[in-house]
Amino acid sequence: EALITVGCSLELIHCYSLIHDDLPAMDNDDLRRGLPTCHVKYNEATAILAGDALQAMAFFGLSDEKLQLRAETKLKIIHLLANSAGVFGMVGGQAFDLNSSGVWLTLVQLKQMHRLKTGALIKIAILAGYLCGESFDAKLYHDLGEIADKLGLLFQITDDILDATKNTATLGKTANKDLLQDKATYVKILGLKDAKKEAKILYDQILTVLKYIKNSADLIRLTELVYNRNK
Ligand code: IPE
Ligand code: MG
Ligand code: MG
Ligand code: MG
Repeated sequence: EALITVGCSLELIHCYSLIHDDLPAMDNDDLRRGLPTCHVKYNEATAILAGDALQAMAFFGLSDEKLQLRAETKLKIIHLLANSAGVFGMVGGQAFDLNSSGVWLTLVQLKQMHRLKTGALIKIAILAGYLCGESFDAKLYHDLGEIADKLGLLFQITDDILDATKNTATLGKTANKDLLQDKATYVKILGLKDAKKEAKILYDQILTVLKYIKNSADLIRLTELVYNRNK
């Protein structure tokens, strides 16, 4: 039950980030998950406020006394999420992304941007899941952090590849958007072939480590989903 609340809180932040990402002042997208984006369906003010409200709702759920976790655990998750969603995580990455249109980033800068804008929330999803468990092992927590970091990066590399290779109907969002806005992506910086190679390397690295972790079947499945998704 606790995991569901924590998972929902992360999803609220995720959903808010996408509503804002699609706004005209950001990526200016009119399609998301095959449907009109929030500002298209309603209006910009509503989309801005919906995002703000979803973000607040996430912290409301995590701080609720009904949530069956120890107070220190809740505080730790709230603290991690606040950091991952903010300037040192998703929002910082989004700012980096918007400023990178038309700019040639180095691979190191590109990785840093992807880690922030997408990776940070994926990382906290895994770490918060672990923190909801009954036992704590510092080494395992550290290893999961490393895996989550790679998984986050893999997710965004795949996102860049899909943007360049799939059509709008499959993606449920506008295809070729990155090229159109000259975004710094793996495909732009490395080319499609090397972007795919990089994704495969990360995928293999994650699976190699996961094999040595107990009860990691769900994480293995998740890694496969992230790597093989086609939308
Ligand atoms: C958005 O990255 C990451 C967020 C923090 C929401 P993208 O701009 O590449 O995401 P899509 O392609 O619109 O889904
Ligand atoms: Mg974006
Ligand atoms: Mg976008
Ligand atoms: Mg994208």
